[in-house]
Amino acid sequence: MPNITEHNHSYSNYDSVTFQHLHLALVVDFEKKILKGKATISIDNHSGTHFLILDSKNLEVSKIILDGKQEAAFSFSKTIDTATQNYMGQALVIEIEKNTKQVEINYETSPEAEALMWLSAEQTAGKKYPFLFTQSEAILARTWVPCMDAPAVRFTYSADIQCDKQFLPVMSAENNFERNKKSIYHFEMKQPIPSYLLALAVGNIEFKSLGDNCGVFAEPEMLEKSAYEFADLSKMVAGASALYGQYAWGRYDILVLPPSFPFGGMENPKLTFATPTIIAGDRSLVSLVAHELAHSWSGNLVTNHTWDDFWLNEGFTVYFEERIMEKLYGKPYADMLSELGLGELKITMEDFMKTIPGDTKLKLNLKGRNPDDGMSDIAYVKGCMFLRMMENEVGRANWDNFLNQYFNHFKLKTVTTEQFIAFLKANLLVKYPKLNINYDEWIYEVGLPKNCPQINSEKLKRVGAMAIEFNLLKDFKSIDTANFTTHEWLWLLRNLNADSIEIKMADIDSKYHLSESTNAEIQCDWYILCIKNNYEKAFPFIENYLMHIGRRKFLKPLYENLSKSESGLAFGKTIFAQAENSYHAVSRNTIREILKLN
Ligand code: BES
Ligand code: ZN
Repeated sequence: MPNITEHNHSYSNYDSVTFQHLHLALVVDFEKKILKGKATISIDNHSGTHFLILDSKNLEVSKIILDGKQEAAFSFSKTIDTATQNYMGQALVIEIEKNTKQVEINYETSPEAEALMWLSAEQTAGKKYPFLFTQSEAILARTWVPCMDAPAVRFTYSADIQCDKQFLPVMSAENNFERNKKSIYHFEMKQPIPSYLLALAVGNIEFKSLGDNCGVFAEPEMLEKSAYEFADLSKMVAGASALYGQYAWGRYDILVLPPSFPFGGMENPKLTFATPTIIAGDRSLVSLVAHELAHSWSGNLVTNHTWDDFWLNEGFTVYFEERIMEKLYGKPYADMLSELGLGELKITMEDFMKTIPGDTKLKLNLKGRNPDDGMSDIAYVKGCMFLRMMENEVGRANWDNFLNQYFNHFKLKTVTTEQFIAFLKANLLVKYPKLNINYDEWIYEVGLPKNCPQINSEKLKRVGAMAIEFNLLKDFKSIDTANFTTHEWLWLLRNLNADSIEIKMADIDSKYHLSESTNAEIQCDWYILCIKNNYEKAFPFIENYLMHIGRRKFLKPLYENLSKSESGLAFGKTIFAQAENSYHAVSRNTIREILKLN
């Protein structure tokens, strides 16, 4: 047996064997809720080792064949405490020869695979056909594909996916836009990607083009609404390319998923996966698309080497997202988004400084922890603010030159925080010997450095003043919210004084009908206020929301606020018991912790 070590949340021996190409041949079985077939892996055993070690979690392997002829011995080993580090799964150890080139793994997934979400027909927009989607980031790819599940490993892939004829499968690869008679679909991803970008969805999916190079996939019931919302898609791709270099992935399409998708969006290459909660009907939430599109550079082209370097993916992406929004919709609009983000960061920062101060560093230490823990406003917004601070110091033109150089230098590679610092010093800071930039403080120290840029959105300032006035008044007096955008609403709700608003809740609701809003962002912030003030009229609406939406960003604060009171906790638990099955494992686990059900 080889010595199996865990490095960077992976057991795989990527230092000894190069994982070059993956071919998947899978049948989608909606009855059994499994994927079944073969993963054929092309390797270069440059070290001449006798073992190929892959990551896996709950995969059932029946047979492994080397170079198309000889059966290989294999075993699963658990090498760390599986009670506390259950997320790691099992090392799949395969005995190979010095000159083995191809390893064919015959396997099936488990119905509990965390990356796979099997939706019943009732959980879809059309209510007629079931639906499957995957979510591989951070380390869930191993629950549906045996692979080297570390962002440091890149490989090309292809796939043949077989399903019943009512379905269309789509992947993070060159896609098919229509159904075919055989119901076997071929996919190619010719650029090397890390495993966390492997993605598949299968459902009653249709496509609508939104330009030469982009379009949207969705259930037919959602297709027109989605196309309306994403009308600016091709302008976004052009705008992003004008900023940081040609779009590298050919097409850019979006798949709109059913509401149980646990994230806002996922940057699966060529095909962003998105929550339907951004289809607000007024195009007000499309910055999420700018974000996922920006990942086509930061993340997908230049990838964080380990999950400790996650801020290199997300911080750069939030910065880039804001630049895209500014380019398309102007600075006042972008400032408004940015100030909202900074407001969220300040709350998270205060909270973390009291509980887990170490997690306020940009460079994380996630050893022994689930990399999911790194997904907070720190990587996203503190990361972005650090980059904005540097932009302010050297000027936009010089900063953009540097970023272009960075994306070009590291394209299709990974980068560590330390490599980034070295590159920053060598290519930018040397030109400014008099500037004394505190990058070490930003990256390796806790808290928010004093030179964090301020954002002054004029629009939000106006709303902030309205909130102050409203807070001071004893009785309800209506606020002039005509022409309010989603973001102005959010700023208003976040600036109302939750402790003194109780008697005004009913008046606010009857004037603005917030309980009945269909904008998921506004609903979330309003419902938080309702819970804090025990405003009972809203509770059926909250229940309905929690029953139908699976996006963790919304579920989390609502359940957290509910669990602050005994009756709220009971209410939360009752809803959770009914809703649990419609939540993705990622959301379900977070809520279980909040409700102390573990
Ligand atoms: N890559 C992330 C989603 C992710 C991160 C999934 C870590 C699993 C682990 C994606 O790009 C993202 O950041 N989504 C955000 C939206 C964004 C506009 C901030 C989300 O889902 O809320
Ligand atoms: Zn992101």
